[in-house]
Amino acid sequence: MHEEFADVGEGVSEDTNEANSAVRIEGGNVFVELDPDHPGFKDKEYRERRNEIAKIAIEWNEMSMQERRTKKIPEAPYSDAEHDVWKAIMERMEPAQEKYACKEYLEYARKLKLPKDRIPQLQEVSEKLEDITGFRQEPVGGLVHPKTFHTALANKVFLSTQYIRHSSNPFYTPEPDVVHELVGHTAMLAVEKWAELNMLFGEADMRTESEEAIKRLGTVYWFTMEFGVCKEGNDVKAVGPGLLSSYGEMEHACTGGAFCGKESACVCEPNLEYRKYNFEEMETRPYDVTKYQPVLYLADSFERMYEDISEFVTIWGTDEDPRKELHQ
Ligand SMILES: [Fe+2]
Repeated sequence: MHEEFADVGEGVSEDTNEANSAVRIEGGNVFVELDPDHPGFKDKEYRERRNEIAKIAIEWNEMSMQERRTKKIPEAPYSDAEHDVWKAIMERMEPAQEKYACKEYLEYARKLKLPKDRIPQLQEVSEKLEDITGFRQEPVGGLVHPKTFHTALANKVFLSTQYIRHSSNPFYTPEPDVVHELVGHTAMLAVEKWAELNMLFGEADMRTESEEAIKRLGTVYWFTMEFGVCKEGNDVKAVGPGLLSSYGEMEHACTGGAFCGKESACVCEPNLEYRKYNFEEMETRPYDVTKYQPVLYLADSFERMYEDISEFVTIWGTDEDPRKELHQ
């Protein structure tokens, strides 16, 4: 996932220890740090699988770029209960996507043929994706700096987590998991124009040095490439992977906030406000990752969204950029 959650790939600097910032290594063993309120905190077997999955990413990150390009991503261990989590999510997600996903998603996600009854391995999905748009995936263990994430994008690599949320709470995850990565990001990366936008963000980030400017660019990514919505006729459709991988928030986002997706504790804002594209405003707008977004930027169409973002990101930090000094 973008920003705090992502991974490492070809073309990424070799010193990417921050990829493992949520991971502790002791005496050759790998431990994933989970907060005490994480649904899987007390589940020993889940913790062991998380550690094993994190180890895959660490060992991957230690390989040379050449090795990463030629080796297959090791398979993550999943329990039957975890495959059932995936299945349950897909059963609830598909009807919501049929109603609310943008047509580009519906057309291209199908080409990936994500299985409905089991969690697919990163390698198999990555191979299909690479055949479609040239993007591929590489594993990551935890938090990475936005710069690391974006640099990978510039090289057509999407850094992806492999673990899945805890089975005790299939419809909630406090961290972006393999459902978010594959059902959201990977499926959209099969859309040619979306893949191109991701690459342009990566290239813009490579031209950016200050933390302040990197944060601005990351915030624009958040409001467009994670939570973007567009019009299709009179309807509002989900484009951003953050919406496409959450049936509750997708419905909330596409019905003007009329739907509260939470069955128990409501985290909705009372109203959802759609705003017209204004990148200057977007760059510094605060957002809360733990709640449904109260403000979404609504494009007049997918095509218009692509054109506006493409133009903005292409000139980011260059001499043609009217706010160049804030973007370097
Ligand atoms: Fe994401």
